[in-house]
This record gives sequence, C-alpha cells and structure tokens, in this order.
Amino acid sequence: MPLPVSTLARISAPPRPATGSGARATLSKMRYYPAQRRPVLLIIFKGMDIQTDYLIVGSGLAGLFFAIEAAEGHSVAMVTKAEAAESNTAYAQGGIAVVMDSAQDSFAQHVQDTLESGAGLCHPEVVELVVREGPEAVAALMDLGARFSLEPSGELSLGREGGHSRARVVHAADATGREISRALLAAVARGKLKIYEHHQALELLGEGRCWGAQVLDLAAAQVHRFIAPFTLLATGGAGQAYLHTTNPAVTCGDGVAMAYRAGTAVGNLEFMQFHPTMFYQPGGSSFLISEALRGYGGVLVDRQGHPFAERYHPRGSLATRDVVARAIVSQLRESGDECVFLDVRDQNPAETRRRFPGISAHCAGLGIDITADLIPVTPAAHYLCGGIKTDEWGQTELPGLYAAGEAALTGLHGANRLASNSLLEALVFARRAWNHARQQAAPARPASLPQWRPLAGQAPLSGRVESLRQQLRRCLWEEVGIVRTTVGLERACHTLDGLAEESEGLYRHHSLDPALVELRNLALVAQLIAHGARRRQESRGAHFNGDFPRRDDQNWQRDTLIRAAC
Ligand code: SIN
Repeated sequence: MPLPVSTLARISAPPRPATGSGARATLSKMRYYPAQRRPVLLIIFKGMDIQTDYLIVGSGLAGLFFAIEAAEGHSVAMVTKAEAAESNTAYAQGGIAVVMDSAQDSFAQHVQDTLESGAGLCHPEVVELVVREGPEAVAALMDLGARFSLEPSGELSLGREGGHSRARVVHAADATGREISRALLAAVARGKLKIYEHHQALELLGEGRCWGAQVLDLAAAQVHRFIAPFTLLATGGAGQAYLHTTNPAVTCGDGVAMAYRAGTAVGNLEFMQFHPTMFYQPGGSSFLISEALRGYGGVLVDRQGHPFAERYHPRGSLATRDVVARAIVSQLRESGDECVFLDVRDQNPAETRRRFPGISAHCAGLGIDITADLIPVTPAAHYLCGGIKTDEWGQTELPGLYAAGEAALTGLHGANRLASNSLLEALVFARRAWNHARQQAAPARPASLPQWRPLAGQAPLSGRVESLRQQLRRCLWEEVGIVRTTVGLERACHTLDGLAEESEGLYRHHSLDPALVELRNLALVAQLIAHGARRRQESRGAHFNGDFPRRDDQNWQRDTLIRAAC
C-alpha cells in the first residue's frame, strides 16, 4: 500500500483511484493538459520501486527507436509525461534528410551543406558519421513499418528544404513525424516494451552514476523510483521557453534540466533555432508551415506580394533558417507589418494539395486556400541546437546516462541545424546509443538510492506558477530572440536568475505539482540559454547579437559547455 502523506497538489489527474485496474482505466482516459488547465487537488504518495534493464525518458523517435531494439531480450521501461503519441517527433512535417539517390547526390554534398549551415561549430567527424549511417538507419525505420511518399516510378520522393543543395528529404506528405510515430508505436505494441504514459520524470537517481529516475505517476499520484543501470534521455527540446514556438506544450527542456542538475555537461543552448514560417494567427494555436513548401517553390513575399528574401541572401527563401528568420525580422521592421506571407500560388494547385494535404486542410479551416491566397507567416522558436553533451555513442559525461534526439548536443548541428537533419540525428544516435549500451556490463546496484521525500508544504498558487511561466517565455522572446543586444541579454540574465530562483524555491518548499515541475525545468533552461547568449560575444548561426554582428572564430569557434557545481 502506498504511504499516505499530508501533501496536497494541483495536478491534471482525476482523484486518485484505488490501485489495480482502476488505476489503469484512469490512465487510459487521461490527457496531457497545459499548466493553466489543471484543476484537481490531489494527495501525492510515495510509490513503488520499478527495476528495469533500461529506462527511457521520452516517447519521440529517439526513445522509441532505442526502446524497440533494447526490448529484444531485456526489460525496458519508457516513461512519458503525456500520451506516447504526444512528442515533438509527431509534429515534424518536413522529413529526414538523407542521401538516397547517389546519382544526384553524395555524402560529401550533404556533409558540406550541414557544415555550412552549422557556421563553423559542427564537429566534422560527427557530421560525416551521421550522413554515412543515415541511409541504413532510414532503411531500418522502413523495416519497422514507416511508409514514405513515393514517386510514380516507385522510388522514394525526395523533397528539398532551406540550406540543401539537393533534393534529399524523405517524407510522408507533410506529416512525416506523425507517420514515424505511428509506425514505431505499432512496432512497440507488437513487442514487450512497457510504456508508462502520464509519468513525469522529476530527477535522475544516483551519485557519480545514473541509476534511473524518480518519476511522478500522474494518475496514481505517486512518485516511483525507476531503477536502471542504463538510462536514455530522449525528452526533446525546450521550445516552450519562448512565447512563440512551433513546439507542442510538452516541450519544456525537462531532460536538459535534469541532466544539468545531475552534474553532466550541457551546452550551446544559446543556439535556439527560429523557424521562419509559423502560421501567423494572433492568439491562435501554433501551426508550422513546413519549409518543404519553400523547397517546392513557395516564395516569401511582403503584403503587396513582392519577394524580398533575395535582398538578404542569394538563395532567397531557401537560404538557411537563421538567415531567412533575420531577413523576415528586418522586413517587418521596415514595413511595420506583423507578418510576411508565403506565396505558393504559382504552383500547380492539384499538386500542391496532394503534396501538402495537412497544411492545405489546416489553412482551409482558417479560410485560406493556399493555392489561391497568400499564407501569413512569422518566425517562432523551433529547435534547440544545443543540449546534453554526448560523445559519438550518445554517452553523456555521467556513466550510465545516454541522451539522443533534440535533448542531446552531439556535434552534428553546430550553431544552426540544417533542415530535416534532426530526425536523421535522432535515428542514428538512438542506434549508436543502443549499440554502445548493449555491450556494457551492468554494475552492481548501490546499497542505497535516494527516496522521494514528500513535503508537507502548501500547494503553490497555480496562478503564480502560470504567471512565472509566461514571464520567462516573454523575457526570452523579447530579449533572447532572433536579434539580440548586449543590454537586452544582461536584462534577461538578471530577470531569469530571479525567476529561476523563485521557481526553485517554490519547488523545494511546496508540494509536488506537475506544472511546477515544468516551470522549474523551463526556468533553469531559460536561464542557461540567456547566460550562454550573453557570454558569446559574437554572431554565429542562430545566435545574433547586434552589438557583435560578426563571427569571431579566433575567440568563439568552440562549444559553450556548462556544468552545475554539484
Ligand atoms: C519543416 O517542415 O519545416 C520542419 C522540418 C525541420 O525542422 O527540419
């Protein structure tokens, strides 16, 4: 029986059910709710110890791919704070950049495009290995059941995106992530992997080595210890740290924050990539307008329908994302408009609808026919190029802990990720991490591991938690956005130091609350982003400081690694 404690918390779950089938029934009905919609008061209990060979945190491409391999002959537990299908992967539209057509493309060209986009910070040996291992990794994904768009000839259809010198993006129409997620979850359902949905990881376990994590079971209102000699953090990025983002509500930098608190290095967090084209709808939900539309022929134009991107770069609308996002900011400053537009009207309407069914339908729902109207767009935070530092096998500095996908800093992306290299990296590094982990002998479990200690404090006011969350998002957006200044970065560091301290204080002195867990992680990652940006006194890739507008290779051609003083 769980131990009752006098701790009250506001969480998204219905009242705690009895253990057993009741708990499962509740689980299956639960949904992930954004922080402001968590109305129910609950008591949090100390939970169970769950022993497993591998613990995976996060249910996107990297986590699922690792898990499917590991589940052959081992016990594997995957925890994810929402439903398994709710991950950043599921929202990926573009696809996987990979050299599949050696007559038209080459590894050398893909390597070159990646290095150029990364603005001098990619690790060339990592770029080389990811590009070379890409085709095999994509074939493995297809063997697991992923179905990608084909040409009438039966060959894979290859799209083009910004920064690519060739068409090399394998895609499933404009919903590639959804298809990958579907295929991998179906493969999981055929195997023995156990997915714990609505389980929010709080903290890594272990001293000097990772031994799993403490995890809040949102339906049962218990904190379990998932004890494992090997843990993979595949928790995605931190787009929710920004007021405007293409990322879903789950993307709170949880893995980066946990890894940092556990003492392992994180880095390059100042390189938050802004996607140039999120659908512009003030107050509406965020929706990405895939870069694949520009690869297909779409052109960025102003309100009058005049193309403007060529004024900023010879590749125009298909320059790399950092360049295009800044071009849009300059354009908006000049015109005083709130958005620019994507013009696809010159393309064949039937082909446009066939190739982009999801985007066509979404825009149609808002009264815009993308074959006849201009699509209003604006940049938004999209992808964290930095993350938890790993080696070429996905190992972090903390023994027993691996990281893969957007949560990781592998050296592939440098200062600015090349479009559609993220799913590729997740695939290749999930395989590498598994190939490494499976050869390691599990060490003896330490005599003691920390227990979660329920606090008898009060539940924090949810209004305060939400207000802090919005403050930090606004601060990053306004001061640590697409175009930064030294004075703005200093202001942001000051504000975010205060917000992080207050969030940590609330977490330590109040009862457990899922929204507060997210706030604490977001505030820490926001603080690290701002400090990384302030320290880097140059402009490179996704980091642009108007007071240091040039790239400074002599002083800054290096990763900015940060470790917590433990
Ligand atoms: C897009 O479809 O534009 C996003 C793909 C990516 O982030 O690489």
